[in-house]
Amino acid sequence: MNSTENGREKWGSKIGFILAAAGSAIGLGNLWKFPYMTYTNDGGAFVLTYLMAILAIGVPIMIAEIIIGRRTQLSPVGAMTKLGGKRWSWLGWLGVITGFIILSYYSVVAGWTLEYVVKSITGAFIDKSPDQVTQQFVDFVSDPFRQVFWHALFMGITMFLVLGGVKGGIERSARILMPILFIIILILVAVSLSMEGAGRAITFLFRPNFSELSGAGFLEALGHAFFSLSLGMGAMMTYGSYMHKNESIPNAALTVSLLDTVIAILACLIIFPIVMTFDLEPTKSAGILFTTLPVVFMQMPGGYYFSILFFTLVAFAALTSAISLLEVVASYFIDELNWNRKKSTLITGGAIFLFGTLSALSNGAVGWLSNFNFWGRPTTAGFFNTFDYLASNYLLPIGGLFIAIFTGWILTKSLKEEELSTGGKTYFKYSVWDVLIKYFAPVAVGIIILAVLLGKEFQ
Ligand code: PFF
Repeated sequence: MNSTENGREKWGSKIGFILAAAGSAIGLGNLWKFPYMTYTNDGGAFVLTYLMAILAIGVPIMIAEIIIGRRTQLSPVGAMTKLGGKRWSWLGWLGVITGFIILSYYSVVAGWTLEYVVKSITGAFIDKSPDQVTQQFVDFVSDPFRQVFWHALFMGITMFLVLGGVKGGIERSARILMPILFIIILILVAVSLSMEGAGRAITFLFRPNFSELSGAGFLEALGHAFFSLSLGMGAMMTYGSYMHKNESIPNAALTVSLLDTVIAILACLIIFPIVMTFDLEPTKSAGILFTTLPVVFMQMPGGYYFSILFFTLVAFAALTSAISLLEVVASYFIDELNWNRKKSTLITGGAIFLFGTLSALSNGAVGWLSNFNFWGRPTTAGFFNTFDYLASNYLLPIGGLFIAIFTGWILTKSLKEEELSTGGKTYFKYSVWDVLIKYFAPVAVGIIILAVLLGKEFQ
């Protein structure tokens, strides 16, 4: 297959978009945030609400983003300007700024996973009590040098892969990393499901009891759908701009959303049987990944390897997401200012690294966790905390809202039908999507944003 079309670099294969987009979607959001949120929101009803949000809001908006990207063959700023004129260019800008902000702190947390790969290999958790393991985490996040070191390394790897370009760098990384990720996840799920607490974990996850889901939990499920599917900041738009004209957009969006959702559920199937089997303290749930799981691994047969595998897996997943965040920012300079890929990647990646040191150094690392009530006490605002809050609760939903409005109300029907009709057989129904993108998604997302503004924060 030709890798350029109308002069724009393209994915090298049909599965290229799906792999890269799934790589973007599957990340810390699935492996860490989702299990934690599910735990604090009491399982079943939260999971069901999340699934409905993915289907009724996430998939339609993902389709919208890909349409805009593939139609214009441009990254968000250029794409919005080309289709909507100058007065819509701000929406592209919002995406670039959001990507910049998210990656700055995402890379810091991803850096933690690298530290934990090393800790696992060197046997740092062997024979340690839960308190000692927690203390190791606290010591680590308050060590400025190590924070910045891992953050720098993670940004360095991300930049290196983005430097390789669409086909050679991004697609190749996803092609190698994603299958490894699936295999590691399946091994871990198999181990967890053989534990004594597996039955209780499954009941907890899949038996909805709506009396247990609070209004805030409901909103949290809707909001997390954006973060998890990488929506609202033009990441899917950018990846869509490298997609071939003869591929089916609805099929790609459905596949990516399905993979993302399956991984989030599998992450729960890894973590909850462990939590149930070892009767872990619920208040520590947000810290499961870094403070509790290592303890449990050490009590399990083969836990030493289990722990290495697990943190490697999280690091890989974070890497393919970070690549997409950087690509949104870097491709702006490539497309709009005609910088070459190297200059653009190095300068934007370098700037994000520097900006991220604020998060790494401001003791915000702990602050971000406490944003999720990790320490069971109110948050102390650090940069980290503020940026995550801003991005997840405002920037992505606002971006998504306007992408839905733009696609539903400004783009012509013939343009949309043309983009949606390529790529052969699909079960997609235009009329259903049209209602979702025009009415349902804007109203639902509008309500989320209003609720946040009125003070019902996701905490
Ligand atoms: N979807 C990623 C995750 O779940 O970890 C995070 C993310 C990546 C959000 C890319 C937004 C984005 F554009």
